[in-house]
Amino acid sequence: MINIMNCKTFILALTLLSPLCLFADEKSAEFDADNGEDINELCAGCHGEFAQGGSDGEYPRLAGMPAAFIIRQMHLFRDRIRTNLAMVEYVDHRQMPDQDIIDVAHFISGIELPTRLPPLVEGVPFDALERLNLTRKLLNIPRLEGNSSAGLQSYNKECRSCHGDAGKGNHEKGVPLLAGQHTSYLQRTIEKYRNKQRIHDPEAPDENYFQSFTSEELNDIFAYLSIADD
Ligand code: HEC
Ligand code: HEC
Repeated sequence: MINIMNCKTFILALTLLSPLCLFADEKSAEFDADNGEDINELCAGCHGEFAQGGSDGEYPRLAGMPAAFIIRQMHLFRDRIRTNLAMVEYVDHRQMPDQDIIDVAHFISGIELPTRLPPLVEGVPFDALERLNLTRKLLNIPRLEGNSSAGLQSYNKECRSCHGDAGKGNHEKGVPLLAGQHTSYLQRTIEKYRNKQRIHDPEAPDENYFQSFTSEELNDIFAYLSIADD
């Protein structure tokens, strides 16, 4: 009898609690875009108003990156696993609670940057202000010297399975975009992987992965990526 009672109480408790659990799960997936936009003003000082990055790749582009990737990096910075002297004071727990990280990551992930302006058609009026705003958001990575067709082949063989078609990244899996990222940032990052200062692909870390490519092969891949967003 007692056992049955316990069991019933247990089931009752489960029934009562389950909506709460669901709510908790949904909560973490929710985000407050206005709060994200406010926080982005802090980030803009370095990463640019539209998270387009700046100073020729010293500050990486963040716009359009998978939210999961941004969130993971913010935690790595906060936990001092990925060193970032510039950002450290912005990401400590007091300044940047978990929900703020989620909000700003989703806001930034939703920013689209055009790579070209729509052509002007003679005789068709255009909105000058709208065009000016588009110009400010424009990001087209300058073409890098190199064998981009060899780069395309290597990219498709070695990188595409994770970084997606044409270097667009993979939002579901939280893999960063590479096309549309500043070339000097990509190059610097590879050096960090080679020097074991960062871990490439946390799901299957292989600290010697980039050692197996020659500098020329990587340069060709970056040459391809620099035109993949055209
Ligand atoms: C004082 C300058 C500065 C500010 C402000 C700043 N960052 Fe950064 N951030 C950097 C630098 C520099 C890097 C590149 C570090 C490196 O080379 O590994 C970076 C890297 C990142 C990365 C990793 C990107 C990648 O592709 O690996 C993310 C994500 C990021 N910042 C998010 C933010 C967010 C969100 C904010 C605002 C809350 C912010 N940053 C504010 C300087 C800054
Ligand atoms: C098996 C999956 C996988 C493959 C294959 C792969 N990557 Fe990655 N790569 C990742 C993941 C996951 C990350 C994000 C790591 C993190 O969260 O710190 C990443 C990160 C990067 C970054 C850092 C980007 C940034 O914004 O910080 C660069 C650069 C990069 N990869 C280049 C390459 C290149 C070039 C190739 C092919 C030669 C390649 N990757 C192949 C999974 C992969």
